[in-house]
Amino acid sequence: MQAEYRQRREQLMAKIGTGTAIFRSAPTAVMHNDVEYVYRQESDFFYLTGFNEPEAVLVLAPHHEEHKFVLFVQAKDPEKEIWTGYRAGVEGAKELYGADEAYPIAELEEKLPKYIQDSDRIYYRLGRDRGFNETILKHWQRFMGMYPKRGKGPIAIEDPSPILHAMRQIKSPAELDLMRKAAVISIEAHNYAREIAKPGRYEYEIQAEMEHIFRLRGGNGPAYPSIVASGENACVLHYIENNRQLQENDLLLIDAGCAYGYYNADITRTFPVSGKFTSEQRAIYEIVLEAQSQAMEQVKPGNPWNQMHDAAVRVIVEGLLELGLLDGDIEEIIKEEKYKPFYMHRTGHWLGLDVHDAGVYQHGEQAQTLQPGQVLTVEPGIYINPNIKPAEGQPEVESRWRGIGIRIEDDVLVTSNGQEILTAGVPK
Ligand code: GLY
Ligand code: MN
Ligand code: MN
Repeated sequence: MQAEYRQRREQLMAKIGTGTAIFRSAPTAVMHNDVEYVYRQESDFFYLTGFNEPEAVLVLAPHHEEHKFVLFVQAKDPEKEIWTGYRAGVEGAKELYGADEAYPIAELEEKLPKYIQDSDRIYYRLGRDRGFNETILKHWQRFMGMYPKRGKGPIAIEDPSPILHAMRQIKSPAELDLMRKAAVISIEAHNYAREIAKPGRYEYEIQAEMEHIFRLRGGNGPAYPSIVASGENACVLHYIENNRQLQENDLLLIDAGCAYGYYNADITRTFPVSGKFTSEQRAIYEIVLEAQSQAMEQVKPGNPWNQMHDAAVRVIVEGLLELGLLDGDIEEIIKEEKYKPFYMHRTGHWLGLDVHDAGVYQHGEQAQTLQPGQVLTVEPGIYINPNIKPAEGQPEVESRWRGIGIRIEDDVLVTSNGQEILTAGVPK
């Protein structure tokens, strides 16, 4: 992988020319008191280095004579490492991660200016780390103050995301290997969940069995908090309490996926825990299944990305009209989004190092077009919340429909001749 990280840095450096790009590591997060969550690097930082330690700064200075790739890292500290584990340290940053130069993070203030002073702009995304934002602004102001005398220096601070995230959107073969692995493990977990989900079992038992498989197969763990939502819990989009007992005739919506090598899978399936749909459940399920199938057909290179959403919405509105859950003119319902009480989210998102991955969806008025190497989810749903208030002028929802929540979600790779469904191994 080191060769690939280098290639990514070189690609970015070729695009920023005489700028200097600076990335801040993710902060550590406290679980409670002095106990921390497992550390996970910020995705841009990881994408460019594979370096998974906090308190670090990555500098890419393509115009610098010797040091184009610089890491500021936690210094080695044998005493601290006994408690918190191995640190690469300054030597490791060079030997293991290929930095041209590395410094202890304590030397940032002193050493950073020499990588900025001859650049014509700083590429940095002003982020949540206010203290670090201040550091960047301070150096920038200082060089701007000297600009009249020097006639050079970083005249602007620019967000590197448009350049870097366009790169991250197109997955390399090595990235796809990791995403396929994440998918395969998640498929196994979903298939096992379907085997064991029976009336009487608890949502958390299903969650536990799935997350057991995530870790057992070498994954990092869940890609996001697993949603195991039975009955009307499925109408809460981010339901994660997972503490209800499954009842006869419940549907179970499971939205769970694992991370592998920090790449994510994101799968949703909804099925009847007693093995048989009620007629209302079946009617809604078939609409969602058809919506997903038609949305999926729109996933091919050259298509505007939102075409799949439009296709899903049309199938959902047609279906709900047929069932009498919506009423009126189909075009008007779509235009005025009167379906939104039943379908309130988008049909998908980019997927990769982040579950809702980097990359734009729109270029101004123009939707992003799909290109080979992109991975996205296709995840339509219908949710008939028990407390649903239909849009104005729409029929009341009969009680037999209330509490049904269904989503079907797959991960799809855009290929040069169409698509590959990475998560096809879970039946629908
Ligand atoms: N599980 C998060 C999502 O489906 O977007
Ligand atoms: Mn999901
Ligand atoms: Mn998703």
